[in-house]
Amino acid sequence: MIVLGIESSCDETSAALVKDGEELLSVVVATSMDLHAQYGGVVPEIAARSHIEAIIPVINEAIKQAQLTWAAIDAIAVTYGAGLGGSLLVGVLTARTLAIIYKKPLYAINHVEGHVYANFLVKTALPDFILPKYPPKFPLLALIVSGGHSQLVLFRDHFDYTLLGQTHDDAIGEAFDKVAKIIGLPYPGGPSVGKKALEGNNYAFSLPKARMQSKYDFSFSGLKTAVLRAAQEMVGHDYSLPSYELPGLLNDAQKADIAATFQRVAIETVVDKAISAYNEFKPVNVVIAGGVAASPELRKQLAERLPIAVKYTDPKLCTDNGAMIATLGCYYAMLGRPSADPYTLEIAPNLSM
Ligand code: KG4
Ligand code: ZN
Repeated sequence: MIVLGIESSCDETSAALVKDGEELLSVVVATSMDLHAQYGGVVPEIAARSHIEAIIPVINEAIKQAQLTWAAIDAIAVTYGAGLGGSLLVGVLTARTLAIIYKKPLYAINHVEGHVYANFLVKTALPDFILPKYPPKFPLLALIVSGGHSQLVLFRDHFDYTLLGQTHDDAIGEAFDKVAKIIGLPYPGGPSVGKKALEGNNYAFSLPKARMQSKYDFSFSGLKTAVLRAAQEMVGHDYSLPSYELPGLLNDAQKADIAATFQRVAIETVVDKAISAYNEFKPVNVVIAGGVAASPELRKQLAERLPIAVKYTDPKLCTDNGAMIATLGCYYAMLGRPSADPYTLEIAPNLSM
């Protein structure tokens, strides 16, 4: 079973070929990240336009790298939500067209669920990928942390899961991106805050952790505002100081302390919930997925606090990519799940799990 996966929900245009839900044959990612960097976040119109330019070359390259032809591809899987409307449209319309032309079944994939499936890839002949030796086992606790999502999900089996909790406002990656902007570090904020944090004190000042009514839910908007207030105070101003003046007023040591303290608290927030869920549900495996799963601080805190080893994949497969979509697509096909109608499949920008 060979599936072509297509992903275009945010600023990455990606295509990949995956065999039997376990072997990565190829993955190509084109990102418009550099075009968004000057704005400190993704500009939807720019992202959509970049997808239009990139999508066909990216798909052709993925097929070429896998040394396959269309005849060898059994099905197409595409992200239809959640994500930016204009971005999703490009991937979905392309996948629909290809499914009709080449007469392949089309599977509509939930992006967030897809992130978890990056962890099921255990084989590849491609250089530079370090994959786990075995796929995760059910029941499986998944902590999905990205620029658009912060979710804790319990999978009893493939396609049988419960959403335990999610963010009420910003996603954790979004909080990293906004804090990076406050202290003048480049976008995306996760890697740049993580790097700066290495020079700072993790306990430089105190930051609040949001208390939520529902035990596994998150909130990051208060934390981001608390960081802004702390930064304004550090440079001797009150809340009326415009945030865009902060990067010029904070010295390097202050920036490092803010990065380190924010990162510790943001990561602790999700790790606290993951540990509670582990204790309640005693899953066989715990996986982390999404862009923030590449964070060394997250991996470190989980390793220190979880009684079992957390599973994660190569950082290149943590951020958005077509391989995770193709992998979940393989399970749709292998387990006989219904395919989508290529003539009518619509995007679902607000799709939840
Ligand atoms: O999964 P992803 O590529 O896109 C979404 O579906 O949102 O995640 C992107 C997010 C960004 O917010 C970025 O700052 C964060 O993942 N990120 C990281 C790291 N690499 C990317 N956060 C923390 N540490 C990293 N190394
Ligand atoms: Zn994502």
